[in-house]
Amino acid sequence: MARIRLAGIAKRFGAVAALEKLDLEIADREFMVLLGPSGCGKTTTLNIVAGLEEPSEGQVFFDADDVTDTPPHRREVAMVFQSYALYPQKNVFENIAFGLKLRGMPADEIARRVRGAAEQLEITHLLERRPSQLSGGQRQRVALGRAIVRQPRVFLMDEPLSNLDAALRVSMRTLIKKLHRQVATTVVYVTHDQAEAMTLADRITVMRGGVVQQIDTPAGIYDRPRNRFVAGFLGAPQMNFLTGEVGPSGDSFRRGDLSVALAGRFAAGHKTILGVRPEDCAPAEGAAANIEGRVTLVSPLGSEQHVNLAVGDTELVFRLDKGLRVAPGDRLGLCIPRDRLHLFDAASEERLDGARP
Ligand SMILES: Nc1ncnc2c1ncn2[C@@H]1O[C@H](COP(=O)(O)OP(=O)(O)OP(=O)(O)O)[C@@H](O)[C@H]1O
Ligand SMILES: [Mg+2]
Repeated sequence: MARIRLAGIAKRFGAVAALEKLDLEIADREFMVLLGPSGCGKTTTLNIVAGLEEPSEGQVFFDADDVTDTPPHRREVAMVFQSYALYPQKNVFENIAFGLKLRGMPADEIARRVRGAAEQLEITHLLERRPSQLSGGQRQRVALGRAIVRQPRVFLMDEPLSNLDAALRVSMRTLIKKLHRQVATTVVYVTHDQAEAMTLADRITVMRGGVVQQIDTPAGIYDRPRNRFVAGFLGAPQMNFLTGEVGPSGDSFRRGDLSVALAGRFAAGHKTILGVRPEDCAPAEGAAANIEGRVTLVSPLGSEQHVNLAVGDTELVFRLDKGLRVAPGDRLGLCIPRDRLHLFDAASEERLDGARP
């Protein structure tokens, strides 16, 4: 078990700055997800925690120990990768046992640990098989088993589910979450899948271009994104964005004919971006509707429907109840609660929190 602290970590590969001054604290037993688009520095961060990459600047601590110069095998971390990296000639038992054998652990202790992990992962019936005789999901369970039996201080996982099909990813996600409860070990988990991040994480670190954008709980990130990038990265369909300005009285957002009342007070005339999540709306009529437009597209999804609405010169997407009768060409009014609106500075794209009126 360990608390991890990255202090002022920078990593350069020649002219490429993969990480710029990263400060990150991960609590003991926390499930921390590193989330961000391709190339943002997730794997590099994980490799620095593992000791597989040396930082250009800064230090890595496990609890009070400075492990910056400690080699990987002495850090007591276990890594699970996207590729399972199993030994094809060895059976499942031997694959899981391999690391323990190398360390000279007595055979009966090895057998006890392998059987324990196999039970947790529900692969006891597969112990005699070779990797080639397993499905992708089963192989990834073996890779997890190999990490568990080592009883590491820290689990590091780099997109472990990205080779699996959608349904299997969801069931493996549940398994990993349960496993984390059972082993009660610090986990750093890399993904670019926002649904995976939201469901697994105690906290999420959103990264972009080697720079941390926000560190918060899944709800904190989703409900109060610090900037437009974070707001757009989490949520499907994406948050709607409208560029405009704050009205003369400071408590509304204006864009052409559209005027939407805001929950706070802002500088009049300030150029801003309004953010509206597709689900933060309810059908409304007359004065209760603060957005109105013409329906351009209806996409039924079974559980709900996505409705495209032309509002002035822009098109917004909303998630609505499947029972709502609506067709292209209809006029539709929606009520968007003021306290669900997001406002960002148009230039810096940082979140604006207005003074309470
Ligand atoms: N060994 C290397 N040499 C040069 N540049 C590298 C090296 N490893 C990574 N980089 C660069 O550093 C940046 C961060 O890479 P990293 O692998 O950490 O991204 P990532 O967030 O894991 O992306 P992905 O989601 O595609 O796996 C990228 O611009 C990448 O090209
Ligand atoms: Mg990566």
